[in-house]
Amino acid sequence: MFGFLGNKSGSLVGLDIGSSSVKLVALSKSGKGFTLEAYAVVTLPPSAVIDGNIQDVAEVGYAIEKAVKVAGGKMSAAVSAVPSSAVITKRIEMSNAFTEFELEDQIKVEADQFIPYPLDEVAIDFEVLGPVENNDSLDKVLLVACRKDDVEQREDAINSAGLKCEIVDVDTYAVERTFPLVSADHMDEEALIGIVDIGAATLTLNVFRGAEIVYSREQAFGGNDLTNSIHQQYGMSIEEVEQSLRLDDISSEIQEMVVLPFRSTVAQQVSRSLQFFYSSGAHSELNALYLSGGTSTIEGLADQLEEDIGIPTRMANPFVDMTVNSRVNRSRLERDAPSLIKACGLAMRGFEE
Ligand SMILES: Nc1ncnc2c1ncn2[C@@H]1O[C@H](COP(=O)(O)OP(=O)(O)OP(=O)(O)O)[C@@H](O)[C@H]1O
Ligand SMILES: [Mg+2]
Repeated sequence: MFGFLGNKSGSLVGLDIGSSSVKLVALSKSGKGFTLEAYAVVTLPPSAVIDGNIQDVAEVGYAIEKAVKVAGGKMSAAVSAVPSSAVITKRIEMSNAFTEFELEDQIKVEADQFIPYPLDEVAIDFEVLGPVENNDSLDKVLLVACRKDDVEQREDAINSAGLKCEIVDVDTYAVERTFPLVSADHMDEEALIGIVDIGAATLTLNVFRGAEIVYSREQAFGGNDLTNSIHQQYGMSIEEVEQSLRLDDISSEIQEMVVLPFRSTVAQQVSRSLQFFYSSGAHSELNALYLSGGTSTIEGLADQLEEDIGIPTRMANPFVDMTVNSRVNRSRLERDAPSLIKACGLAMRGFEE
């Protein structure tokens, strides 16, 4: 049905397993770039994923299965990610005389020195970044490690939905991959651009210079606070609240009494995370800020932030210059796009190598 099914590397769908929902993105690639073939967002029960950990593999598997159905393709394999908070990364220098096999062994010896878990509980990956400057015998190597549990939970959930989990990536790498798409208007290499993700449980600020992340910070804050307030004050179930928020179907009373004040709280939290960034070192002011994540779709948030912080602020949309399959509902996509960044970056990973 979709072009990408015939292409092995392109047949991987991106799966972002967030704390409130599973997001699936299916892309295809042709000479001129990516096409968004399909996507889906499927809500998870509140306790299925907590702090990035899958608590209920069966529920997550069920949501993934549903996402595949909604997206309507015969998808067979996926790329997912562990949260960067679950990952330890380190840049090391290694002899370039090692064979790939020897290097793997040597990396384990290095890893053992800084990873606070027994090695048999740890999944390790590495990437040779290139030669060390002014040295012809050493390579720079990026070492990435996380607990095997974190990887296996994801694999189990994805397998239980009948998909094969081909790649487990790190979520910040996925955001990094989408950066050129999101910030197409800011091609200035020296510009400092922030992407803030406001999800259900976590607010994350990533700051880019060029295509690289130069600062990253997570804090525990998100849309769950708003959902719970409405649930408690108006007697709606959590599911009802989530549904109404996503469909813009909330009463004007709730909008005025709860959503608007919450929008100010969100703006304060974003300002606060920017303060942490500015106080972290010799960084100049951001040139632009992009908002992603479901909570950032509160109406008027970008305008309010722009006024509060004095930095041009827009919604992040990785699909803005993409061809979109005519079966995708355009107006829904407009709303959902800021929440789909991670899933999009994961789907893009399927076309690398
Ligand atoms: N129109 C809206 N107004 C306010 N909040 C909204 C709206 N649409 C979605 N949300 C909120 O966005 C949150 C979901 O966002 P998102 O899908 O980015 O989170 P997540 O990826 O599941 O969570 P996290 O990244 O924290 O693990 C929910 O808390 C939901 O209530
Ligand atoms: Mg998220």
